[in-house]
Parts: sequence; structure tokens; C-alpha cells
Amino acid sequence: MKILVATEKPFAKVAVEGIRQIIESAGHELVTLESYTDKAQLLAAVADVHALIIRSDLIDAEVMTAAPQLKIIVRAGAGYDNVDLATATARNIVVMNTPGQNSNAVAELVFGMLIFNARHHFNGKSGSELKGKTLGIVAYGQVGRNVTRIAKGMEMEVHAYDFFDLAERMKADGVTKEDSIKAIFEKCDIVSLHLPATADTKQSINRALVGLMKPKAVLINTARKEIINETELLALLLTERPDLTYLTDIRPDLHNEYAEALGERYFATPKKMGAQTAEANINAGLAAARQICSFFADGCTKFQVN
Ligand code: 3PG
Repeated sequence: MKILVATEKPFAKVAVEGIRQIIESAGHELVTLESYTDKAQLLAAVADVHALIIRSDLIDAEVMTAAPQLKIIVRAGAGYDNVDLATATARNIVVMNTPGQNSNAVAELVFGMLIFNARHHFNGKSGSELKGKTLGIVAYGQVGRNVTRIAKGMEMEVHAYDFFDLAERMKADGVTKEDSIKAIFEKCDIVSLHLPATADTKQSINRALVGLMKPKAVLINTARKEIINETELLALLLTERPDLTYLTDIRPDLHNEYAEALGERYFATPKKMGAQTAEANINAGLAAARQICSFFADGCTKFQVN
């Protein structure tokens, strides 16, 4: 089978080498399209492939139409909102993710950004510490659990909310379970968002919710930009809540407006950096390669999401 790694944001070299080894040892062929800049390159590259390994790359109906032999797409990572699942299902294409494989990297970035903020971007001014602060986690999946593990080491108090009943998981992690997202925003000094982008969550972090935050609270988003109502959040930060700070690993569409108006109360990474480590690329990339090999070897569909 012919397997394509198509990554607009490339994996670390060592991860691609590992993927190649797994694919070729199983008797398949690996081709790569890294750092592409134009959708036309992707459309041409998928023409004769049977499997696709991607990151946040947009895989829509046009891409699938250009790939008549495609049997499986593995999103090397957690969120698969970049894949048109309905079209994939209609075309009998299996879509999988690799849950948990890059979650430590994202969790570490949360603390990198929080410390950078608490120490005033390392500009020499006296800052504050995370120890003793209350941290609220919205959506308690693999990233949320890793955030808790690190927060506990920093002696933070952790609260969490999830749409699903994850009471046992939260209890096992020593986390205070909140019964509403509202409670997280009301009670915590820092709120860390780990929601997927779905019809229910898009635009859900809005003026009413963020307006509930404690004085001088910090909102950090390492999930998806679509979950934020950008216009409402900016208006809130500019008017009623000049004490709040917004940190994000996903540049808002209104980045220039945020940066200009908010100064040090706003920080965005230049490109989504959460999973951008060699370790996360190796974990997620190699898992994707193994999942494809076992799908072709024995039809294994563990981690299928459609
Ligand atoms: C994910 O959903 O796995 C993360 O957001 C990482 O995405 P990336 O592979 O595009 O960095």
C-alpha cells in the first residue's frame, strides 16, 4: 500500500524516520509531502495513495475526491475537526486519531505560557507564582489530566468540569469536580480550556462566561480558536474587565486587534505550538503508522472516530 504523510506543519525529522521504518518493515511504501503551501500540492499528492497521515491539515471532500483509492486517514493527534467525517464515512474511508500521544506536550506548554505571563514576559518586573493558585480545567481528557499532574507538582488547587460524567477519573486525580462550566469560571484564578471544536462548543466561551471570572484571572486556550467568541471576549477585556488576561496557543482571527488593544494582557504563540515537540511527533506519528499497518494487516479499527 502507498501511505502519504501530508503535514503542512512538519513532524520532527526523527519522527518521519520512525514512521518510515514502521511502514517499510510492514512492506508498504511511504511518501511525504511536508511544509506544503498550496492545497493543489496536497490534491496532487493524494492521487494514488491508500492511506494518509496528517496533523491539522484540512481534509475535505475535494481532497477525498482527489484520492479515489484512499481507505484510511489517521490524524496524528487528538482533535479531528479538520477532517470531513461525513464525507469520509460516505466513501467508506476510516478516520482515526491517536488519543493521548501528544497530550503531555500540550500540558507542558500550558505551564510555559502561564509562567511567561506570571513573570511579565521575563521583562525584569516582579511577578507572581502559580503555587497556591486555583486552576480550572474545562474538559477533562488526556491533556486535562496531564495539566493536573503538573499543577499538583506546583501545589496548585485543581478544579475540573466535563460534559461527560468523569467523577471517578477526577477523584482518582485528586481534582475537585465542578458540576457546571460556570462554576469553573467563577471559582478559579486560572481557567485552562481543553475543549474540542464541535457544534456545541464553538463560540461557547463568550462574554457572559468570561465575565464571571475572579479579579485578575487568566484565561488560557490551548485547544481550538473556534471555541472562543472572539468579538465578545475582546469587547469584555476592553470594557468591564480590564483586569483579565488571555493567553492562547491558537492565534485568533482578530489577533491584530487583540495585540494592539491589550498589550501584555494578551499573548498568542505565532503558530500552534502545543504538540510541536520531537517527543509528541514521535509518539503521535509512530502510533499513526502502527494503526495504519494493523488496519491493512488485520482490519483493526481501534481509535476509529467515524
Ligand atoms: C491535536 O489536536 O492533537 C493538537 O491540537 C495538535 O495539533 P497539531 O498536530 O496540528 O500540532
